[in-house]
Amino acid sequence: MPASTAPRLLDGAAAGALARAQSLELEELLAIVERSGLRGRGGAGFPLVEKLRTVRRNAAGGEAYVVANGYDADPGSPLARTLLGRSAANVIAGIAIAAHAVGAKSAYLYLHPEATDARAAAERAIAADGELGVEIEIALGPGGFMGGEESALLAVLESRRAMARQRPPYPASQGLRLRPTLVSSVETLAWLPLVAVEQARAGTKLVSVTGAVTRPGVYEVTLGTQLGDILSEAGGTNAKLKGIHVGGPTGGILGATRTGTRFDFDDLRAAGTHMGSAQVRAIPVGTCIVNEAARLFAYLAKESCAICVPCRVGTARVTGILESAYSGLGRQSDLAWLGELGDHMERFSLCGFGITAPSILRTTMREFADDYRIHIEEKRCPEETCAPVRSRRYETMTQP
Ligand SMILES: Cc1cc2nc3c(=O)[nH]c(=O)nc-3n(C[C@H](O)[C@H](O)[C@H](O)COP(=O)(O)O)c2cc1C
Ligand code: SF4
Repeated sequence: MPASTAPRLLDGAAAGALARAQSLELEELLAIVERSGLRGRGGAGFPLVEKLRTVRRNAAGGEAYVVANGYDADPGSPLARTLLGRSAANVIAGIAIAAHAVGAKSAYLYLHPEATDARAAAERAIAADGELGVEIEIALGPGGFMGGEESALLAVLESRRAMARQRPPYPASQGLRLRPTLVSSVETLAWLPLVAVEQARAGTKLVSVTGAVTRPGVYEVTLGTQLGDILSEAGGTNAKLKGIHVGGPTGGILGATRTGTRFDFDDLRAAGTHMGSAQVRAIPVGTCIVNEAARLFAYLAKESCAICVPCRVGTARVTGILESAYSGLGRQSDLAWLGELGDHMERFSLCGFGITAPSILRTTMREFADDYRIHIEEKRCPEETCAPVRSRRYETMTQP
């Protein structure tokens, strides 16, 4: 079965959508959005209509903002760039409809500084439509992974560093300049014109298929498509499959037998990973998964905004333990230690970065237990690829 049956966002252009949305009674517009089942495409899957209602209510007729998150934090998943390149007019109309729904007069389209083509497309679309009813300003983030997290991006828009802050209060009650703010992914907002005009159900999701596939790229797939079908959409794997990494840098790695897992917010969570940046990466046989987990955590340790201890310390410690393990210095007790660190990060981290990163540990320790066992017990690499990077164990306390 083909993975993509309804390529709506990438090619869809809903002419007249903004005028139609503006002509509707507000409650009618919100009811249409609710019926569409539109959940946030930025990773967490929160229903858009609830955010719209909350921002509108909290603004109580005063100032409110819309921030369209088109940052593409994960360098392997250029979804916003692709969307803006293909249908910028829909994104801009979506921002204007959201602004109309929450009563905002100012909106920001927040992009990655390297996304110059997407920025140019957005500028053209804004200039082409003189009747938006909202001032849309393009703002650029700092470039790092955390620049896409909602509270960090609000800090950036206020000329501060991209560091997260505690929630509540959520942006919908206290966001930009402490005013109610809708922060939504550009992919979420681009659905609004389609929903307003065609009363469509928001049934597809953009994914970035990478790794060992024949035609890596951005695809639009129906939510619920099996992971195996998504890989087929990208031409199929070009090597024997060892695992499927889902959700980008903080996403879990599922074993090759899990191609039947449905690509959907809830199913991915049940499988131990999450939608995240919607990157689906085929990992070929020949890849050591302990090394892979260490590589991901080393990246996260560098990208952490470092404001909270569980993540700042957790990402560094996990990296050290995993490096020790693949350097032939692992101990059985390391597995329990990794589990504890993961639990701690998940429970006490301040933002989605630290809360979701332990999925890498959970999934790899569950699905690739042999890679860990061979490294720790037999002191060799299961794929004969790992070179030691430590001569002493990563150790912070005396071992029993
Ligand atoms: C580390 C990190 C990076 C993120 N990067 C992005 C991003 O590039 N684009 C995006 O839309 N959401 C990103 N998010 C999610 C946002 O915090 C926020 O939940 C999202 O923009 C809300 O939009 P939605 O309701 O439409 O999903 C990121 C989250 C985290 C924790
Ligand atoms: S979890 Fe990590 S990235 Fe998020 S606030 Fe804490 S230190 Fe920053």
